[in-house]
Amino acid sequence: MPAGVARAFKVFVFLACLWPGADLAYNAFWGDLGVNPVETLQRTSGESALVMLLCSLAVTPIRRVTGWNRLQHLRRMLGLWAFFYALSHLAFYVLFDQACLYWSDCQLAAIVDDVVKRKFILSGMVAFLAMLPLALTSTQGWIRRLGRRWQTLHRLAYLAGAAGAIHFVWKTKVPEPRPYAYAAVLVVLLLVRVYFSWQKRRTSTSGGHGL
Ligand code: HEM
Repeated sequence: MPAGVARAFKVFVFLACLWPGADLAYNAFWGDLGVNPVETLQRTSGESALVMLLCSLAVTPIRRVTGWNRLQHLRRMLGLWAFFYALSHLAFYVLFDQACLYWSDCQLAAIVDDVVKRKFILSGMVAFLAMLPLALTSTQGWIRRLGRRWQTLHRLAYLAGAAGAIHFVWKTKVPEPRPYAYAAVLVVLLLVRVYFSWQKRRTSTSGGHGL
C-alpha cells in the first residue's frame, strides 16, 4: 500500500471513529437525542466501543492476508478510540443510572451491588477492566519497557471483545441479530489468529521451510 494512500486511510478511519462522539455531542447541545436521551448516549457509546474494539482486532489478520503492513498503525488508534467510548459509556452509567453527579451523591456500594447482581453489568465491567491496562500501556515507553510481555498482555483485547459481545447478548431482552453478529465476528477473528499461530509454530518446527 503506498504511503500516501495509507495516510489518507488513517485520516478517514480517525474521522469515522470521531463521528459517533461528535454526532452525540452535537445532538446533545444543539440537536435532539430522541425520546430517551440517556439510552441514546449509552447505546451509541457502548456499540461504538465494541465496533472499534473488533476493528482493532481485525487489523493484524487483514495485514497478514493482504501484506499491507502500514495498516498496523491503525490498531493502536482504533484501540484507543474503543477505550474512549468505553470510558464515556461507563461515565454515562455512573452519571445517569447511578445518579452519581457529585462525589457526595455516589454510592459505591450500590454500584458494586449492581455489578454483582446483574450479570450483564458484570460482563461490561470485565470488558472495561480488560481494556484499561491496554490503554494504559499503549505508549511507546510501555511497549519498550514490557518487551515481549506487551504482546502477551495485549491478548486481553480478545477477553475484552468476548466480554463486550456477551454483555450485548445479555443486555438484549428481545432477540435481535446485532449482538450475535458481533460475537460471530469475534469468533472468526479468534479462529484466524489460532490458524496463524499454528502455521507459525509448524514453520518453526519444520526448520523454517513451511513444511
Ligand atoms: C464499564 C462497565 C459497563 C457498564 C456498567 C455498562 C452498562 C451498560 C448499560 C446500562 C447498557 C444498557 C443501555 C440501554 O439499553 O439503555 C449497556 C449497553 C451496551 N454496552 Fe455496556 N457497559 C459497560 C461496559 C461496556 C463495554 C466495555 C462495552 C464494549 C466493549 C460495552 C458495550 C455495550 C453495548 C454494545 C451495549 C448495547 C448497545 C445497544 O443496545 O445498541 N459496554 N451497557
